[in-house]
Amino acid sequence: MTPRIIPKKSAPGKNIVIWIRSSQKETFSPHYHKGESYLALLDELARRGHRVSFAYDGGGWRGGDLFYNGDTRETVRADIVYNLGNIPGEDFPGAAAARQSHARITNTPAFRGFCASKFRVYGYLREFFPKTIRVTREAALLPSLKELPGDMAVFKPDTGTNGRGVRVLKKDEMTLDDEMRAIIAEPGGALLQEFVDTSRGIPGICDSYHDLRLAIVNNVIALTHVRIPEPCSLIGNYAQGATIRELAPEDIPKKVLAFHERVHAKITERFHDPMYTMDIGVGTDGTPLLFEINGTTAFPWPEFAGRDFFIKNLADHLEK
Ligand SMILES: Nc1ncnc2c1ncn2[C@@H]1O[C@H](COP(=O)(O)OP(=O)(O)OP(=O)(O)O)[C@@H](O)[C@H]1O
Ligand SMILES: [Mg+2]
Repeated sequence: MTPRIIPKKSAPGKNIVIWIRSSQKETFSPHYHKGESYLALLDELARRGHRVSFAYDGGGWRGGDLFYNGDTRETVRADIVYNLGNIPGEDFPGAAAARQSHARITNTPAFRGFCASKFRVYGYLREFFPKTIRVTREAALLPSLKELPGDMAVFKPDTGTNGRGVRVLKKDEMTLDDEMRAIIAEPGGALLQEFVDTSRGIPGICDSYHDLRLAIVNNVIALTHVRIPEPCSLIGNYAQGATIRELAPEDIPKKVLAFHERVHAKITERFHDPMYTMDIGVGTDGTPLLFEINGTTAFPWPEFAGRDFFIKNLADHLEK
């Protein structure tokens, strides 16, 4: 008699809720420059048998682990919440109830909140950063500048992305203008940071100024790219005209890998299994230092060779 083949029972799919701001909807559209990568994540989660719903804004959360799916208008019980839009903040009404729900939230509002302040991250990871001083009064700018080594210094908001308000200047040319005054008056104030001179580049990767980004997902380096500022600029943000080049895992120098391991170990002492990016500059003596940590992962461009590796790790991380 031919034995009857019983198909292996696969693990049951999970309800994964992606919680985003309505303004982020376009991220999952082919019109967005990285849209194909976000859509590839949805395909991969569906291929693994999971059900994905979208909850938008604060109203998406219905208490405990219940979420309102803004597309189908159904209420779903989440097993996992991908907190992509950082909703809610750490202390939203009902935070205590949400913490008791059985749904796993990633990244946690606590980790996102921690990363939202560059100075708070500096306070915890000081040994990996250039010297940083917080400035909350205009009169403190010049005295604080004197405490930083070197002829150059960096001024940046405590809370910021895409290079907003970042100035890299000679110390004796730093004078307050309206934008800097407004940043100093923001709730987190401004930061003055020792300038990391990256002009010697990274051996085998680039010859001059750079910002090397490692995206850590699922406890591995899931994506690496280097950003090179425009000629005449020292700001390595794509939004400020920098170019981006993907790097293969084997391109990352050993010294940078060892640095990443030390930083990652310290972050995971305090936060369980976070996904984040570390932005690194390699100084003229070859020592890597952090520019910043972002409490969310970067996404690959659709044409990146490592896109599927990244998506695999993000899907592994989400379905845990
Ligand atoms: N201490 C520093 N020394 C030298 N250059 C720096 C320093 N800090 C920042 N920069 C430059 O300024 C850029 C932007 O700084 P930073 O990453 O802190 O700002 P951001 O607005 O948070 O950017 P992101 O969009 O990456 O979150 C960096 O890419 C780097 O080129
Ligand atoms: Mg940055």
